[in-house]
Amino acid sequence: MKIGVIRGDGTGPEVVAEGLKVLDAVKGDAAFELVEFDLGAERYLRTGDVLPDEELDGLREMDAVFLGAVGDPRVKPGILERDLLLKARFGLDQYVNLRPVVRYPGVETLVPSHSEDDVNFVVVRENSEGLYTGAGGFHRKGTQYEVAVQESINTRHGVERIVRYAFELAMRPDRRRKLTLVHKTNVLTFAGDLYQRVVDEVSAEYPDVETDYVHVDAACIYFLDWPARFDVIVTDNMFGDIITDLGAMIQGGMGIAAGGNINPEGVSMFEPIGGTAPDHTGKGTINPLAAIGAVEMLLRQLGQAEAAARVDRGIRSATKQMTSMRAGEMGMSTAEVGDLVVEGAAS
Ligand code: IPM
Ligand code: MG
Repeated sequence: MKIGVIRGDGTGPEVVAEGLKVLDAVKGDAAFELVEFDLGAERYLRTGDVLPDEELDGLREMDAVFLGAVGDPRVKPGILERDLLLKARFGLDQYVNLRPVVRYPGVETLVPSHSEDDVNFVVVRENSEGLYTGAGGFHRKGTQYEVAVQESINTRHGVERIVRYAFELAMRPDRRRKLTLVHKTNVLTFAGDLYQRVVDEVSAEYPDVETDYVHVDAACIYFLDWPARFDVIVTDNMFGDIITDLGAMIQGGMGIAAGGNINPEGVSMFEPIGGTAPDHTGKGTINPLAAIGAVEMLLRQLGQAEAAARVDRGIRSATKQMTSMRAGEMGMSTAEVGDLVVEGAAS
């Protein structure tokens, strides 16, 4: 299997190195060929290229892609995000952004009322439309009468495929058969209505899955107050972006939160959901577990369930031995965390 590797910027290369270390340790008989893609701020600053079409075509040839993080203080915000990350997600039609919110053993969080078992759900974020399509524009820009329009595009096809994915996920043996739509149907009466109608219609095909609905603002309360009420959440692109940062915090922080950009019929891309952490770059203080969790998801997507289970064991054994999930407060270095995962995966 060919794995495209985008090490990216900032601490990206450091966490990718640990992810690949773990991949190598757990792979068993599976053969992986790593194909490096030189993409990110350095390439952009050197050549002006962000994600040229031939590189995107190269990514299409992969079985999966492993991405560190992109972004750099020297590059104006929006360029790498939109023209690299979003271009890859859209170009490869990775319409599912899958973000498990799991609290691993021994992990401290900011919410003392949560027990470890309280936090175990997954957010299925729509990843190909909504506010992220870039639709909209300016009118009379720079004047007192300026108009800025940012449109949320929601198609029947796009909503239906994400909702179906979420129902299928809710049926998997490791889930609890509960699907919650998170939206803002009381205000976004067009887009929210489409989501709600699709959930209602598709739910008829899944009589074993209990469905409910929570407004996005209330969902933020429940993340803190009653996270165990969630099993599978389905939501749009923007709401999914926002609530998964809060989700990361109830897992222990961005250092532990992994995600997958999935095209169930095509090439999927896995990444830690956090950024490039410029303050920690080159210090060996960044937490690689989110990237290692991304490797676990990548293995699962490629049908390597046993190897994925090994990574999971490794992560669970590492979290018990670390003092914190926060960068610089782990009680050990980036590479030592990777070593602990390798050790735990083997036992
Ligand atoms: C994420 C990030 C991206 C997003 C940014 C970097 C474009 O916040 O993966 O959650 O908004 O999707
Ligand atoms: Mg985000």
